[in-house]
Amino acid sequence: MSSRSIILSDSARAALRDSSSICILTGAGVSAESGVATFRGKEGLWSKFRPEELANIQAFIQNPELVWEWYQYRRDIVTNAQPNPGHVALAQWEKRIAGFTLITQNVDGFHQRAGSRRVIELHGNILRNRCLKCGNIGAGQEVPFKEKVPLCDCGGMLRPDVVWFGEMLPAQALNDAFAAAEAADLFLSIGTSAIVHPAASLPEVAKASGAFLLEINIEPTVLTPMADLFLEGPSGKILPELFDEWMAQRANVE
Ligand code: APR
Repeated sequence: MSSRSIILSDSARAALRDSSSICILTGAGVSAESGVATFRGKEGLWSKFRPEELANIQAFIQNPELVWEWYQYRRDIVTNAQPNPGHVALAQWEKRIAGFTLITQNVDGFHQRAGSRRVIELHGNILRNRCLKCGNIGAGQEVPFKEKVPLCDCGGMLRPDVVWFGEMLPAQALNDAFAAAEAADLFLSIGTSAIVHPAASLPEVAKASGAFLLEINIEPTVLTPMADLFLEGPSGKILPELFDEWMAQRANVE
């Protein structure tokens, strides 16, 4: 008998059993066990680097080489890391229920590498390039940044296809995310500090629409008081157990 670490309330067990529309929001914490640093907290990226110097369009225009150097550094970390059991559990879960929407704030592409097919990327993808001038996606990605800022065929500068501070999120992704949150009967907020909007509004919208709100984190967040259940611990350990529990609950009703 595996030593399960999660303890579910009766209401959580019922929510798992009866769910037909599951919405998931992931943050950097889901990738922490893959060895990729989160943004906030003592080891977070923002404790070592200044986001205003690296993750906004003004910084890029002023010093594109510095910004590209930082994103290549992060690309190397991501490509040399592996998705963890939390990513894999979410990919398995998606295969077993049509009403399953995965929304991520992460730009590392780990959900797709773990096998998730339907991923709403709210903040873009660090491995993709976008042309500053013509908007072309995907040019010049195969060549790692060394010294010269990559250029699009149109002559425009290429940038990482991520959402920087102060920029609008991709409209279609945002619409799809809020529609899924409103339609959810079970919403999981996993590995996010839940403070960066508009993503942080998604759990609130789901809860207001009647969803059972379940949070997974290694520590309480601003969202925790609103959650119907808070599962404290690493998502790489909790998610496989939660998926197993969901499967067991479903087996009982089928
Ligand atoms: N399992 C679960 N949660 C974890 C784990 C883990 N192994 N490790 C860390 N966490 C939690 C932390 O406690 C924290 O609440 O993950 C959360 C990470 O929070 P942030 O670093 O703020 O990352 P995130 O919430 O994704 O940030 C949102 O802010 O900087 C922007 O665009 C960036 O997408 C990012 C957005």
